Amino acid sequence: MDNKIAKDRIDHLVELIEKYNHEYYVLSNPTISDYDFDILLKELEELESTHPEFVRLDSPTIRVGGKPTKEFKTVVHKYPMLSLANTYSEEEIVDFDTRVRKITGDDVEYVCELKYDGLSIGLTYVNGILDKAVTRGDGVNGDDVTNNVRTIKSIPLRLQGEFPEEIEIRGEIFMNIDGFNTMNKEREDIGEQAFANPRNAASGSMKMQDPNEVARRPLDCYLYYIPSKVQGIASHYDSLLAAAKMGFKVSKNIAVCKNTSEIFEFINDWDKGRRELNFEIDGIVIKVNSFIQQKQLGFTAKNPRWAIAYKFKAERVETVLSYISYQVGRTGAITPVANLEPVQLAGTVVKRASLHNSDVIKNLDIHYNDHVYVEKGGEIIPKIVGVVTSKRLVGSKPVSFITSCPECGTSLTKKEDESAHYCPNEDNCPPQIKGKLEHFISRKAMNIDSLGEGKIEMLFDNKLVNSAADFYKLKPEMLLGLEKVIPGKGGKKDSRISFQEKTVNNIISGVEKSKQIPFERVLFALGIRFVGETVAKKLASHFRSIEIMKSASFEELIEVDEIGERIAVSLMDWFKKPEHLDIIYNLKESGLNLEMSESSLPSSNILGGSSFVVSGVFENHSRDELKSMVEQYGGKNTSSISSKTGFLIAGSNMGPAKKTKAEKLGVPIISEDEFISMISD
Ligand code: IVH
Repeated sequence: MDNKIAKDRIDHLVELIEKYNHEYYVLSNPTISDYDFDILLKELEELESTHPEFVRLDSPTIRVGGKPTKEFKTVVHKYPMLSLANTYSEEEIVDFDTRVRKITGDDVEYVCELKYDGLSIGLTYVNGILDKAVTRGDGVNGDDVTNNVRTIKSIPLRLQGEFPEEIEIRGEIFMNIDGFNTMNKEREDIGEQAFANPRNAASGSMKMQDPNEVARRPLDCYLYYIPSKVQGIASHYDSLLAAAKMGFKVSKNIAVCKNTSEIFEFINDWDKGRRELNFEIDGIVIKVNSFIQQKQLGFTAKNPRWAIAYKFKAERVETVLSYISYQVGRTGAITPVANLEPVQLAGTVVKRASLHNSDVIKNLDIHYNDHVYVEKGGEIIPKIVGVVTSKRLVGSKPVSFITSCPECGTSLTKKEDESAHYCPNEDNCPPQIKGKLEHFISRKAMNIDSLGEGKIEMLFDNKLVNSAADFYKLKPEMLLGLEKVIPGKGGKKDSRISFQEKTVNNIISGVEKSKQIPFERVLFALGIRFVGETVAKKLASHFRSIEIMKSASFEELIEVDEIGERIAVSLMDWFKKPEHLDIIYNLKESGLNLEMSESSLPSSNILGGSSFVVSGVFENHSRDELKSMVEQYGGKNTSSISSKTGFLIAGSNMGPAKKTKAEKLGVPIISEDEFISMISD
């Protein structure tokens, strides 16, 4: 292609793609399908690789990643990044208003905003192009995380309309709740530790060295403050309107209030309404609107005098830490659990709280027998949020993390860049074996629903099943009459369960049926670390058989789309072990699919890349069958509904929230039959 034509086309594509990104991620109003968007992005990528001299600093191809950062550079903030004075009481808001009026006089307006629970970021644009993104750090110096921030699609790489030559804007990077839950589920599926909450997930993501990984995290950013002067703008409210015009994501949930009763109304509305939001807020920020008045009020050493944060009260109780127990997961990850003196909290009795990992224990500086504060946030499991140090017993020792596995005694390992400790004895540590067997039979893997946690425990305890391959050697006579004694609780007699003919037949036929499961799911079922559903699909369709994959070199593995070094190393380690090769050999002998069948090739692209959510119970097909059909005909499956969703295939018993959300976003809701006719055309 002629150089001039290539440059013009690159320029055009950069602007077009960024316009679509803005419509989708900032305005929530997409005007192009995912499929067409991907085609444009691919075209730009190809042009940039053949004409690297024309790659622009604001190219959306930067958003998919880039070179890893070894160490984040420290940057001095041009304007110190101050925090806000906090309050939990309405009286203190009244005091704040009185203090303000004493200095500004009675003609004062406030802007009330949501207080986003994420990590603060300062973005600097030079000549309209994102130049630097810096974390708060200690308020004076922060980390330069520009490469990571460029992957966040709602942050403009280039400003629109009118803007100053240099402008800094501050905001909060956060992870939305749906994205957080999906990501955590995927992490657990591949044996990575789940994040404790969306805030930790967002700040953990910003600390990652590989922007390609960051690009996969569902991060978002609201902007709420411009510390520098913008010509012709005299109030905070107007500065936010101007920011929105420049292309920034600014919340619409803002109110200009004239007095404290209007402020309280805003606070109360959002204290209730926050549960409806798809992101976490921990309070309301109240800011004096006029810049002249802000200047009159000035700053203390730590905070502006013109703003205050009202924090919502979380339900919190005090109790005593009795002891810490440790759970061993399927991948050997160790999770510490705080066992507490039972206490009533938000309508339930709380006896246990998750401590996640050794870093959490260290940060809380928790000692044995400490009095602790327990809170219930958005998460299901309550958490320990602090220690009552004044009640600490003299001479009590800080909790020290165990050094060997509580189940098999093997010394634990910990990688420097991970917060979890692991038991490395993956093939002999009982909870790891049982966890892997449970994963193998799970719905998304081999879907053997006639087996479950309890039955697997019986098979394992009776030494009938020790690896996935053993399921396929089970015979009815080995199972019939198998018994388990369940110890009676609270003085009650022990009870027994035993396998009767019906149960045995169900198990055998469930195991038999699973031989039909396609290769990619068998690969996922093997439970190789970091090989989740998506990775398994990519690997299966690339190598097409386990034999070829098994002998692939590191270079061959990382050539596969989405397979990075970490996954490649994990695969190579897995295939190195003779026990694992034995499992593969036996599974193959039993007739499982360890290569792609021809029918698993996409049959057509009739669905053109549209995304589908399949929800509920269906008459003629299982949910998984419908999902496979979506992929077979060129569609994409997603788990939650967004404005990007093309169709919701709705069965009976679908949750009402999904339906309401689809209706609200105008996502077409179709039946199983309507879907079948879509692909039968
Ligand atoms: S304004 C000089 N507005 O809360 C004032 N902060 O301690 C700049 N935050 O550091 C902050 N939502 O990380 C402001 N709507 C909002 C906010 C907000 C969340 C965070 C921010 C800040 C902390 C306050």
